[in-house]
Amino acid sequence: MPTSIANPAEVIQQTTNVDKLRQFLNVYWLRPENAFWMTLRSDTLARCPMNGPALDVCCGDGLFSFIHGGGELDLSFDVFSAAGQLDDVTNAHADMFDVVSDHYKPTVVRQPDAKIDVGMDLKAALLDKARALSFYQQLKQHDANEVMPFGDDSFQSIYCNAAYWIENIDLFLQELRRITRPGGCIVLQVKLACMQDYTLEAFRDQLGDRFLEIIGRGRLDTWPTLADRNSWEKRFEKAGLSVEDACPFVTRTHAQIWDVGLRPIAPLLVKMANGLKPDSRASIKKDWCDLLGELLSPMCDQKLDFFNDSSEPAEIQYVLRPTK
Ligand SMILES: C[S@@+](CC[C@H](N)C(=O)[O-])C[C@H]1O[C@@H](n2cnc3c(N)ncnc32)[C@H](O)[C@@H]1O
Repeated sequence: MPTSIANPAEVIQQTTNVDKLRQFLNVYWLRPENAFWMTLRSDTLARCPMNGPALDVCCGDGLFSFIHGGGELDLSFDVFSAAGQLDDVTNAHADMFDVVSDHYKPTVVRQPDAKIDVGMDLKAALLDKARALSFYQQLKQHDANEVMPFGDDSFQSIYCNAAYWIENIDLFLQELRRITRPGGCIVLQVKLACMQDYTLEAFRDQLGDRFLEIIGRGRLDTWPTLADRNSWEKRFEKAGLSVEDACPFVTRTHAQIWDVGLRPIAPLLVKMANGLKPDSRASIKKDWCDLLGELLSPMCDQKLDFFNDSSEPAEIQYVLRPTK
């Protein structure tokens, strides 16, 4: 006899998560730990309707927002076939995706129901990739450390999952406030400073510097404004933003699994996959995604946590509104 009956809403949510995970795995299969993290982000963001005009700040190649919005890509497409600078990833910390490539051809099976008005990012090559999705009405290259190239009250909704990448964080938050309409909202998904502790750093004596350098690959250098929860909330207050909702959605367990992941060997996996004949690549990719879809679906539970202390969450979604 079953001891409990599943709540239908939970069953639908789990099914949706598994479908989303499959879509993220399809494009990020060689970095499966990013696929489950994006599934957690998308699941949490789904609580916030993004009414237009909408701005996606630090949109990158746009694939996260495209898949979040219900877009689907064919199995023949993934971000790795057009990756470059592979020999410079491990030691020079190059971004393998920040390259222009003729191989980048997203084969769209389904467009999201709604387009996003504006996508903005620092990197021109990523914006070119976003353009190939035909999902943003407009794409703007801009450094978010500077005053935003938009008028006051331009947007009803703003989304950003990379605020901790921005050095000039106080100006950035003030600018978000300025360009948000009265009654509009800003959704920020921010990593917390405890991410630095959810690593193998405590075992440096046993593992050695080189081990941690290979695993870390300069990640922390790209996150200059990580902060604890209290400091993020003080920054929001200072910028004239009030917190309407704060939803922790990535646990210490998620962060520690992600910390090791396949990051160190990704450049080699990419080279190997791209050296395969298209038929073999597609068939291995399909089996890989089937297996990882099963393995990672338990990770897509926002509450999954194997640590029994009350650790700080690794990432929080804030819904912010301009104060009057
Ligand atoms: C982790 S990626 C996230 C991309 C996208 N939102 C996603 O979920 O896939 C961080 C993004 O922030 C962008 N970025 C970093 N610093 C920036 C800056 N100062 N101004 C604008 N974009 C920046 C990077 O180019 C990159 O696309």
